Amino acid sequence: MARSWKFLCAGLLPLFVAAAASSPALVPRTWNGVAYDCKCYIDDECWPSDSAWTDFNSTVEGNLLVHIPPGAACYNTFDGPLGRVATYNAAACADATSSFSNEAWTVDKPAAELWTYFTNDTCRPTAVSTGTCTLGYYGIYVVMAKTADHVKAGIDFARENNLRLIIRNTGHDFIGRSTGWGALVINMHSFQDVAFSTTYDGPGDYTGGVVTIGAGVQGRALLTEAHAQEPPVVVVTGECPTVGVAGGLVQGGGHGPLTPLYGLAADNALSFDAITADGEFVTANADENPDLFWALKGGGPGAFAVVLSVTFKTFPEQKSSGAVLNINSTRDADVFWEGVKTFHKYANDVVDAGLYAYFELGLLRLHVAPFVAVGKTFEELSAILKPMFDELDAKNIPYDTYGREFDTLYDLYISLFEDEPAGGSALTGGWMFSHQDVEENNDGIIEALKTVISPRADLAGQGGIIGHLWDAGHSVLVSNSATHPRFRQSTNFAIATLNVPVGSSWEQKAELQDVLTNIQDAAMKAAGPNGCAYVNEGDPYQPDWQDHFWGSEYPVLLETRKKWDPNGVFYTVATPGTEDWEVIEYGTRLCRKSE
Ligand SMILES: Cc1cc2nc3c(=O)[nH]c(=O)nc-3n(C[C@H](O)[C@H](O)[C@H](O)COP(=O)(O)OP(=O)(O)OC[C@H]3O[C@@H](n4cnc5c(N)ncnc54)[C@H](O)[C@@H]3O)c2cc1C
Ligand SMILES: *[C@@H]1O[C@H](CO)[C@@H](O)[C@H](O)[C@H]1NC(C)=O
Ligand SMILES: *[C@@H]1O[C@H](CO)[C@@H](O)[C@H](O)[C@H]1NC(C)=O
Ligand SMILES: *[C@@H]1O[C@H](CO)[C@@H](O)[C@H](O)[C@H]1NC(C)=O
Repeated sequence: MARSWKFLCAGLLPLFVAAAASSPALVPRTWNGVAYDCKCYIDDECWPSDSAWTDFNSTVEGNLLVHIPPGAACYNTFDGPLGRVATYNAAACADATSSFSNEAWTVDKPAAELWTYFTNDTCRPTAVSTGTCTLGYYGIYVVMAKTADHVKAGIDFARENNLRLIIRNTGHDFIGRSTGWGALVINMHSFQDVAFSTTYDGPGDYTGGVVTIGAGVQGRALLTEAHAQEPPVVVVTGECPTVGVAGGLVQGGGHGPLTPLYGLAADNALSFDAITADGEFVTANADENPDLFWALKGGGPGAFAVVLSVTFKTFPEQKSSGAVLNINSTRDADVFWEGVKTFHKYANDVVDAGLYAYFELGLLRLHVAPFVAVGKTFEELSAILKPMFDELDAKNIPYDTYGREFDTLYDLYISLFEDEPAGGSALTGGWMFSHQDVEENNDGIIEALKTVISPRADLAGQGGIIGHLWDAGHSVLVSNSATHPRFRQSTNFAIATLNVPVGSSWEQKAELQDVLTNIQDAAMKAAGPNGCAYVNEGDPYQPDWQDHFWGSEYPVLLETRKKWDPNGVFYTVATPGTEDWEVIEYGTRLCRKSE
């Protein structure tokens, strides 16, 4: 088809002038007997002409590129929507093969996703260069935005042409929210400015230290700069070193090692600079656009505006103590699970003492790495954990442990938190167990965690848990963020994963999604009736996601979305106001149900 060559030929056809930009109607389609109106895609008449793309590239000062997935170097050709291009490159293929699970490598690619399931995995690195590499569920074009004007131009172009728009920062998202089939992607990762100040004179009562960070700044990089201040300071980020702080993290809530002390990242945001769906530059804080300010603090990523920068509170550094616990040297499942039960039984004591813990749980493997006690000596931490260790000893549960005191939380963070591998194909769900649920039903919660790890006889060990002990209301914090009020009674926020074999059919994928929703997450919900879900680390396809993600905050979030993005310029699955939108035709077209 001639159309597929149009981009490649574009340079030869400089004579056309772009038609005046007007907003074309959505494209009507029918799928499974239902009428929809869809975004504009490459095989639709409304798709911008070559010259329109060329002009757009000029508007963004040459920063538009055609997306080729990172595994393409291993294939003779990439069969993309704009045509076939030769891609094989032995050195680049070797690099892709060895780096595919390296988070930093993937983050630096224009549009790659760390968790590959939602890319449809159609171009993984391979030794078989004759295989086919296609775009899968990636976007077609990427704006490597360097300035706010580039971001505005991208939003305007997507809105005016009804294109699916994806905002991509690090590509870290567990649930594929920074990729979308056939989309225009705006990559925000170049926004790396970081500016500290010891005082804040913006609106509100707060006058302490602050840092203003660009949209692309990642956790460890920020903490490293914070540590280099005189005196050193800390910021509420996620535990993960490579997650973006001002992108999905703060817009979904954002929990980390400082959450017991200072709440969520969202609770510590003082001001946002952003661009709206209309292409307007706005500041959102306690004085200006306070409704947008509130919604950007946990109301859902990529749903209300594109964030350019955020100002966060900073706090003084403190000595900190950490400890690691492994229960993984027994082959006896009963002994192992008795150990997990014992660990979890003390989870309320851990959060009541203001501690944080990160843990991984799988088949005969519990890895708590680490328990974190900010501002406490190692003796104080040991005293808090002593009853748990005494009980493990009394029950003859084999474990190993080590720990120590650090001069700063930063030193602890660098030594005891581990990088996580990218490149896996998995579904993600999750549930928060409240203080009350742990107190009343610890044994039931442990049974639910067993179900998550082995949801069915044929899926034994295919699930996993990433747990987090924190209480975002520990310091009697009054939240002014849009996150679920139940985050203030949390004890264990547990992510559930389920491996999905690469190359699974649509039916197999649907079946595993059903296992996630109706077996794994359902078991956790039943065991923790006072809990909630976290939009960044949860199942977007669960029923009642509005209530599980936001509870009583939802109605106002919905109104706020209708005000700031009434026409759905932005779309992120399971965010406020997306009820009528659906990705149809096997994970491809984004459409709104016709009225
Ligand atoms: C290994 C791992 C560890 C994690 N650890 C934690 C943790 O400790 N605490 C925690 O709270 N969460 C954690 N998360 C979840 C994390 O908060 C989300 O994955 C988050 O969405 C990542 O945001 P990002 O901007 O880095 O990623 P991206 O994948 O680039 O973007 C994620 C979402 O944010 C939107 N977005 C990104 N930038 C912008 C912007 N500038 N403006 C508007 N929308 C934007 C995207 O459109 C997308 O919807 C973890 C995730 C992973 C994979
Ligand atoms: C955009 O322009 C730059 C600079 O001229 C060029 O290198 C790039 O290939 C162009 N992108 C597209 C998609 O044509
Ligand atoms: C997605 O992957 C499936 C195989 O798992 C394939 O049948 C389908 O064509 C792919 N779709 C796209 C758009 O890549
Ligand atoms: C237990 O896990 C730790 C950390 O993951 C590892 O270093 C150790 O070797 C494991 N022990 C056994 C017996 O597998």
